[in-house]
Amino acid sequence: MKLTPPALLWRVANRKQIFYLLDCKEKGLPMYETLKQRIKCPELHEKIRSSSEAASYITPGMTIGVSGFTLSGYPKEVAKALAERSHRGEKLELTVYSGASLGDDFDGLLTRAGALKCRMPYQTNTDLRNAINEGKVKYVDLPLSLMSKWVRSGYLNHIDVALVEASSIDENGNIIPTASVGASEAYVACADKVIVEINTYVPENIKGIHDIYMTELAPNTKPIPLTKVADRIGTPYIPCDPSKIVAIVQSEIPDCGIPETAGDEDYNKMSENLISFLEKDVEAGRLCNPLPPIQAGIGAVSNAVLSGLQKSKFEHLTVYSEVMQDSLVDLIECGKVDAASATAITMSKEKMKAFFEKLDSLKGKIVLRPMEISNSPEVIRRLNVIAINTIIEADLYGNTNSSYVGGSRLMNGVGGSGDFCQNGGLSIFITKSTAKNGTISSIVPLVSHIDHTSKTVQVIVTEQGVADLRGLNVIERAHAIIDNCAHPKFRPALEKYLRKASVLSDYPAYPYSVEAAQMFHGSV
Ligand code: COA
Repeated sequence: MKLTPPALLWRVANRKQIFYLLDCKEKGLPMYETLKQRIKCPELHEKIRSSSEAASYITPGMTIGVSGFTLSGYPKEVAKALAERSHRGEKLELTVYSGASLGDDFDGLLTRAGALKCRMPYQTNTDLRNAINEGKVKYVDLPLSLMSKWVRSGYLNHIDVALVEASSIDENGNIIPTASVGASEAYVACADKVIVEINTYVPENIKGIHDIYMTELAPNTKPIPLTKVADRIGTPYIPCDPSKIVAIVQSEIPDCGIPETAGDEDYNKMSENLISFLEKDVEAGRLCNPLPPIQAGIGAVSNAVLSGLQKSKFEHLTVYSEVMQDSLVDLIECGKVDAASATAITMSKEKMKAFFEKLDSLKGKIVLRPMEISNSPEVIRRLNVIAINTIIEADLYGNTNSSYVGGSRLMNGVGGSGDFCQNGGLSIFITKSTAKNGTISSIVPLVSHIDHTSKTVQVIVTEQGVADLRGLNVIERAHAIIDNCAHPKFRPALEKYLRKASVLSDYPAYPYSVEAAQMFHGSV
């Protein structure tokens, strides 16, 4: 029998669905009906594919724009299929753009499989970090606020395929993300083809938490109409032309999550020091109360700092940040935080499960936005955000290093720290005064790599105390940092550097000496 073209297409689509069903059976996934329920646009049901079939749209040398930010909301099933192809000997050489860091089951998996050629704009994975440091994967870390604009403006590669995790697809083919937005809206808008991984682990009632707004590019740029943390200015979905969706894959793998780290005495001291600094600034009339919105980076230090706010006198707090960690959810639940905006929710697996269970009661106070908006210099400046970020080291001039240990070993990248510290109303950097079990001083004469210059660093906090650098000249800054932030055992050597630098410098108003800095490192 000769098949008419539509019948032939149906036969092909059916065969693909049979492969999909076999794949589900093999993986023990709930079948077709569960997935269909999440795809409200009926004509897209025929795009359901197995992960390996979906991955076949990604061919060697392509640039893919993937969802995911700080280990949250990244695609997992197609990554596995790509890694398998790479292990079988296919040279994929992919360029992967994301929101920010992706889980080990993406970044680590594809690195170990040798499938990555280039990665942008941020990562935190051990294997990927090693591959980057060994020169095996090209890495460009970029202030996160720029990524979407750079892709849309054509400064970077064209996006061949957008690969995004979603909780559902609406009646018109628009995509409802999961626990992060990142730069997905830009990748979907620019891509030739879109692959959607519907993650049925994420409850469907996450719909409504997102607010997707895309800026106009120059010369048509307009002000972003966001004046309060809780404002909603966009759509609850990522707009998507359904004809661009070539494959929909089912997943029910939770995000890898961040490990729960127990705070220690130093973290508590850092938190106390920071909070008492904020209290004094309020008393002096330099800060308003309720405080301006707070941004806090990710990790144990930031989590401890936010946790400390629970016991503080501050009420009606708001948060305008990149990431929400579990401490923030605790603050919302105990009534300290009225509203929180970010581009991702990142917690441990267990905490995330509990968060999903409480989603309905928390949703009204949380907005997830594209990182172009969460990290927008314009909005951060308008809201007068208090930016709190963690660093590797700070120097006596007030320059800080967030990204390269010893000047050349990449740790993670600059991430969004610059977006916030350059534009916030108050820019605070936190670090323990020592690293590597107390053997290294995190306060050094000259940082080995500069991410944030003394011009954008206003306050440094360690477990020792707080250096408020506002209005101080170079020499005053150096003394404030030594006296308040350095560990007592390193203070004499730092003071010695300053004295030597004063002698060796041509200009006494600016003591500076690379030679004396080298002597500091030789002496401690
Ligand atoms: N000298 C040498 N090594 C140092 C150091 C110092 N002064 N300070 C930290 N390190 C090393 C640690 O030993 C550790 O190394 P290891 O992994 O080999 O053990 C590593 O740096 C990370 O330090 P840790 O104390 O675990 O810090 P963290 O997890 O709090 O991360 C940053 C600190 C700076 C790396 C992290 O905050 C970051 O990547 N920041 C940049 C991005 C950013 O600020 N984003 C903000 C918005 S989310």
